[in-house]
Amino acid sequence: MKYINEMKIDDSLILEINELYGINLSYEECGYNTIGHTIICAQEKKELLELDADPLYGEILIDGLLTLGSEKCLNLSNAKVLYDLGMGCGKLLLFIFNLFTNITRLEGFEISKSRYLVAVNAFKKYYKLQLIKEEENIAEFETFNGGSIKLWCKSFTDLTREQVIDVDRLFVNVHFKNPLIMKPLFDNVNDGCKIMSYMNFAKYFSCMEKINFDKLIKTSWTAKRVGHKFYYFNNKNTRL
Ligand SMILES: C[S@@+](CC[C@H](N)C(=O)[O-])C[C@H]1O[C@@H](n2cnc3c(N)ncnc32)[C@H](O)[C@@H]1O
Repeated sequence: MKYINEMKIDDSLILEINELYGINLSYEECGYNTIGHTIICAQEKKELLELDADPLYGEILIDGLLTLGSEKCLNLSNAKVLYDLGMGCGKLLLFIFNLFTNITRLEGFEISKSRYLVAVNAFKKYYKLQLIKEEENIAEFETFNGGSIKLWCKSFTDLTREQVIDVDRLFVNVHFKNPLIMKPLFDNVNDGCKIMSYMNFAKYFSCMEKINFDKLIKTSWTAKRVGHKFYYFNNKNTRL
């Protein structure tokens, strides 16, 4: 059993989500041999690199989510619209959906078709979600609290201002060879949107206000050690 502020998390949730992915583990997948790693072939990796997208994989673990969702960080209990840029196999979104029912719109973007399909298949099996639309590059689900979840197979660098205007939380757990490709997106995200990333975007973008955050986040690749350093930003783009 784990706690976030007053929130209680049963180990059964971890088991339940693992089952959706066909993982036979009483805890989370760790290391460098997760489904997200094994599902993608060398040819797909090559194609992603040609598109300037980094196929590097790793997941935020529930302990990490508890830290970054807490009041002193992203304060997810107070969020409405969250985007996971580079959602991988979508596990983080499933946990967030279960833990923070105040969030009415969750969207995940994944450029790798094979990881995207793993996510869609897991969500389709979940009894708390109703599939309402499935096309080649998008699957949309209705949630029991009247909200929606959209999974996209596309690059998040293509998001328009209209698509990000009401986003109040952004996860960017992606590695960039060239972080400057994120400029249009960050320019478009509204003032006050809270952003978490393991890239220090404040070095590149003046609209990013870096907020002191000194806790390490547990991830699948650092679970056996202490965790990974992440940065926390407030978007302070004052453009109207
Ligand atoms: C480190 S994994 C993060 C998984 C998940 N967000 C989490 O934190 O548990 C990063 C994912 O971003 C994807 N990715 C990289 N560049 C992308 C882009 N431009 N658009 C969409 N997805 C991208 C990769 O294919 C990879 O699956």
